[in-house]
Amino acid sequence: MYLGIDIGTSAVKLVCADTDRILATSSIGIKTSSPQPGWSEQHPDLWWQATRDALGHLSGQISLSEVKAIGLSGQMHGAVLLNRYLRPIRPAILWNDSRAAQECDELRSALPQIGQIAGVLPLPGFTAPKIAWLKQHEPRYYAQLAHILLPKDYVGLRLHGELGTDTSDAAGTLWLDQVSRDWHAGIVEATDVAGDWLPQIFDGHNCVGAVTTQAATETGLKPGTPVVAGGGDAATGAVSLGATETGRGFISLGTSGQLFVADQAYKPNPERYVHAFAHTLPDRWYQMAAMLNGARPISWIGGQLGLSAAEVVALAETVNGDRVPIFLPYLTGERSPHGDPHIRACFFGLEDSTTRADICRSVVEAIAFCFADAAQSFGDSIKELPELAAIGGGSKSDFLLDMIASVTGKPIVRSEDADSGPACGAARLAACGDGALSMTDLALRPSAVKMFEPSDLSEMFERLLRFRRLYSAVRAVN
Ligand code: XUL
Repeated sequence: MYLGIDIGTSAVKLVCADTDRILATSSIGIKTSSPQPGWSEQHPDLWWQATRDALGHLSGQISLSEVKAIGLSGQMHGAVLLNRYLRPIRPAILWNDSRAAQECDELRSALPQIGQIAGVLPLPGFTAPKIAWLKQHEPRYYAQLAHILLPKDYVGLRLHGELGTDTSDAAGTLWLDQVSRDWHAGIVEATDVAGDWLPQIFDGHNCVGAVTTQAATETGLKPGTPVVAGGGDAATGAVSLGATETGRGFISLGTSGQLFVADQAYKPNPERYVHAFAHTLPDRWYQMAAMLNGARPISWIGGQLGLSAAEVVALAETVNGDRVPIFLPYLTGERSPHGDPHIRACFFGLEDSTTRADICRSVVEAIAFCFADAAQSFGDSIKELPELAAIGGGSKSDFLLDMIASVTGKPIVRSEDADSGPACGAARLAACGDGALSMTDLALRPSAVKMFEPSDLSEMFERLLRFRRLYSAVRAVN
């Protein structure tokens, strides 16, 4: 059996699987801190502790000593900053942190061709500008910097003691030349990073190291168990759905949101803030619209109103759209399609008669509208896709998937085990590294559980246009 470890933003999730079915899962929640406006941080040791706790839960269901190989998955773009003793210098700066906006402007002026090389224009969520920010604002920490890792790779380091990453996570740093799939010396230098601070890059199914005796004592895993590189959560989510071949696409509805389409060629489209990144498997790339707020606004409003996410959606379903406010869901700024770290969320059109249900509906609807914007930023290429699969916590809601199908015009397919996508993909990469699955097997799709067809919702399209106008208006006063 194979273990997938996904270092998510809201939880560490584990999946233990055979080549064809899930045998056990466990999950431990983690908190994000925001010490200043626009900042988003987690301490890397929190991920390791949560991984150990989640393994403790898993060991009640299966025998950890039977795990043949381990695959890693994780939130992308985070800067894990280590000193020469391999200890974190400060909390990691995450993918939804917007402090490095000025450094992005500087990078864009210094390297006008960066979008074509790195597959996306500089935005503060990516790893590279965060180092330029560190040098400027926290020089005492910058002076100690000896290694930079991505979040899942820190857990890899604690498991096997090696410094490594995979192509898909390297792709999300802004330092990768997406064609040669190696670090780009010019971008590395422009962000004041020494080449030897960056880890070696592996394909996702390749072994980076083996569980050390120390890690075995701390976790209950067998010493010597191979650990493959795995992938960023977008890429491992794709592997869980067989989205490794050209034209296979899916949406992900987690703390972040993604519209992802796999390809055998590198097709940069930086002006629309569509990311063109190397996939975790050799000779594969993907295009992705990445939305910073995903399905998170549902749990955010639920937290304010004392409701669970399921209750928010259930309440949203009880009203029709007529007098519902319009909500801009940009709680942490937005990447695709606006590339706007400064924008923030707001409600427009509140009335004396506005109810909790109206507010819930406007929040759920806004998530669907973000996917309409994402589909639009892909241009004509999206029209050729027959359907989109759906994964992530938000994909449990029929109501939301119905809305997304209607506003994007694409049939949406909910697949088996849609909730544990990235961890599942990581376990599949581990099975591939162990020789139990081939690249062809990785392209197989899980069974569809339910299909959502687009319906004609002309009244929603009117509201979508108002949603887009509201963004332009709010940006002007921001
Ligand atoms: C993708 C992205 C998020 C994070 C967190 O570009 O920023 O998906 O990986 O899930």
